[in-house]
Amino acid sequence: MKPRLAILLGSVVAALTALVAVSPRVVAADKVDPAADAKAFQNFFFQKFPKLKPEEFVNGPYSMNEDLKRQWQEKEEFPPYEFALDAGKEMFATPFKNGKTYADCFPNGGIGIRQNYPYFDVKEGKVITLELALNRCREANGEAPYSYVKDEMASLTAYMAFTSRGKPFDIKIPDDPRALEAFENGKRYFYTRRGQMNFSCASCHVQSPGERIRAEILAPALGIMNAMPIYRSEWSGMGTTSRRFVTCNSQTRAVPLEPQSDEYRDVEYFLSYVSNGLPISGPGARP
Ligand code: HEC
Repeated sequence: MKPRLAILLGSVVAALTALVAVSPRVVAADKVDPAADAKAFQNFFFQKFPKLKPEEFVNGPYSMNEDLKRQWQEKEEFPPYEFALDAGKEMFATPFKNGKTYADCFPNGGIGIRQNYPYFDVKEGKVITLELALNRCREANGEAPYSYVKDEMASLTAYMAFTSRGKPFDIKIPDDPRALEAFENGKRYFYTRRGQMNFSCASCHVQSPGERIRAEILAPALGIMNAMPIYRSEWSGMGTTSRRFVTCNSQTRAVPLEPQSDEYRDVEYFLSYVSNGLPISGPGARP
């Protein structure tokens, strides 16, 4: 590295470090109000699409267009995620080598709880997503973790989502400054422009839902987590939330983060919280 560049980078890092150091106080002083944010977020979409009922937003691109909606209804008769669902159900019930199962790691044996994830763990001070909790369960029972972007994780989360279908998202933000900070951090990530195309998540999913990008119709950010994980014909298979985030970042030529990094978990926390009250519809299927 050329010395001048190194110096420049050094000062950028120093500036960023200073920023991070003060940010918790800044956040506290700003009076973060997630409930007000969620209300404004939902109202924005209700006004933008006055014909849609709130619960219709959870069908992603299919909520945006009548032709697509018909295709979706036909698809639901022979859902392409059925295979993953069956696999997930069987995996979920199969004991680990130590005789325990996933059910031992989760409230209510893991059934009908998807709407409560991600949650903020006050002991750890971090957001815990369902994908992360599943891998922690495996590791606590002596099993190797699954890839966050592959089929096994998608099958497990598909099954868990299915047992929660119709239950409204019920994401809590505990009274803890770190939880508010995680929410704010996720929100900031969602609205920050990045990558060669200088797009934020919001550029596509808030400003342009219903519009076409190549062959795809953009899903609205309201309800965008409710259908995860999702089967895509283009992938000939299932995609986890992690896979989707990585793909969306890559599509705008931004450098994707590590699956389940703090930022991705925080953005999932933000997106899930602002969809509180809307029903879980996963697993989903897309063209
Ligand atoms: C260039 C536009 C673009 C940007 C920017 C973008 N996405 Fe996407 N996103 C898409 C497309 C295209 C799809 C697939 C079609 C669809 O469902 O919207 C998609 C799908 C999704 C889905 C699945 C929704 C569903 O119902 O199929 C999620 C979740 C998602 N994006 C999250 C994000 C997040 C988080 C970010 C920011 C890190 C982001 N996206 C940035 C284009 C974008």
